Amino acid sequence: MSNIPQGKRDSFGSSFGVFAAAVGSAVGLGNIWRFPYITGQNGGAAFLLVYLAIVLLIGIPLMLSELSIGRHAQKNPIGAFLQIAPGKPWFLIGIVGVAAAFMISSFYSTVAGWTLHYTYLSVLDKINTSNASELETLFNEFHTSQFMPLFWQFVFMLFTGLIVIAGVRDGIEKYTKILMPLLFIILIILSIRSVTLEGAKGGLEFLFYPDFSKIHSKTVLDALGQAFFSLSIGMGTLITYGSYIQKNANLSRISLQVALADSFVAILAGIAIFPAVFAFGIAPSSGPGLVFLTLPGIFEQMTGGYFFSILFFVLLVIAALTSSVSILEVVVAYLTEELKIKRKQATILATAGILVIGSLATLSFSTLKDAHIFSKTIFDFLDYVSANLMLPLGGFFIVIFVGWAYGKKFFSAEITNDGNLVVRLFPVFNLVIKYIAPIAIALVFLNELGILG
Ligand code: PFF
Repeated sequence: MSNIPQGKRDSFGSSFGVFAAAVGSAVGLGNIWRFPYITGQNGGAAFLLVYLAIVLLIGIPLMLSELSIGRHAQKNPIGAFLQIAPGKPWFLIGIVGVAAAFMISSFYSTVAGWTLHYTYLSVLDKINTSNASELETLFNEFHTSQFMPLFWQFVFMLFTGLIVIAGVRDGIEKYTKILMPLLFIILIILSIRSVTLEGAKGGLEFLFYPDFSKIHSKTVLDALGQAFFSLSIGMGTLITYGSYIQKNANLSRISLQVALADSFVAILAGIAIFPAVFAFGIAPSSGPGLVFLTLPGIFEQMTGGYFFSILFFVLLVIAALTSSVSILEVVVAYLTEELKIKRKQATILATAGILVIGSLATLSFSTLKDAHIFSKTIFDFLDYVSANLMLPLGGFFIVIFVGWAYGKKFFSAEITNDGNLVVRLFPVFNLVIKYIAPIAIALVFLNELGILG
């Protein structure tokens, strides 16, 4: 509790708590639902390599940049830029971040609702088939219906809101500490079962044997968007969490550990899913339903499958919750600190707003399936624009801010805890933040826009 100004600001209680909360934010549907299907659509192993390169080269330094801004300013993303660079337009990064948080929450809660429904189906033992077409029918009938997906989405946002109201230490930190390690263990068990399925080999080759002819500009933009989404960077989540981190915590260690843990979970999810995809004859490019089409089939073929299936979906819901909490916290921190709305009211307001947009995302698989924005459904539009455009754009300006603008004032002090820590990678982080990350992000964008030919 050493860094609570005026005895007021909430903070994380221990360094493991900080790590668990940051991992809780990073590890979620992005790893277990989004990573496998985006990898599936982008041809597998080559995508994975590009993805990992981006995590290492751009992801970790950007995490560090965000954490340092947050801990230095002790504020939400908009307030932080206003405080560090008063009267300058940098706060726009925070505004785009809060908007992205809103958009991500909206479609995230749709998918989280699906996982709640699958938890419910598991408990009632209603998914007892490993037949791919039956699993497909089950998923399609559910997610294109109207009432149930909306119902589960509301339930999920209710849980999210309740945890956020409880606050940082009593809400966020307490739960993630216990639940994230459990998720690791069950994923490992699932992967073991999946790789021992008959016909699993094709899946492992798909995931680990790269075919570089599959890399196009879209692949790289997808990898960039996925990396940012998965690490929760580019929109100020880690600025917000950074503001709750104690002054003596080691920010570079946290960033490295979180990026490693996050990538490890994504790869484990890939190892659990792709062998099953191939063993059951499902198309890797099936899209957002991929996890829901494959995993129930694995459980069906496992001793104790009933039990594992419940445990897995419960943990997936929890992983989604700890991420969703971190997204909502960005909006709530802004509303409470900048607009002086009370925490409870702010949470209710933000949750209600998210549910309005979120309902549209959910209904875009049924009633609103023909409503398109730039030829994408509402769900796809929210996903694509936030992950592939807003997060990388936010990330670009954040590294510019730290590397070329105001970062000189605080970055080195934050990373070394005012000279008390020796961070051997510091020159590397500096180089990446100044040159490599902004150039790489700009190139990916220009390439995607066709400007580089
Ligand atoms: N990283 C989360 C996941 O992988 O599920 C999603 C997420 C959380 C994205 C927080 C962005 C964010 F700011």
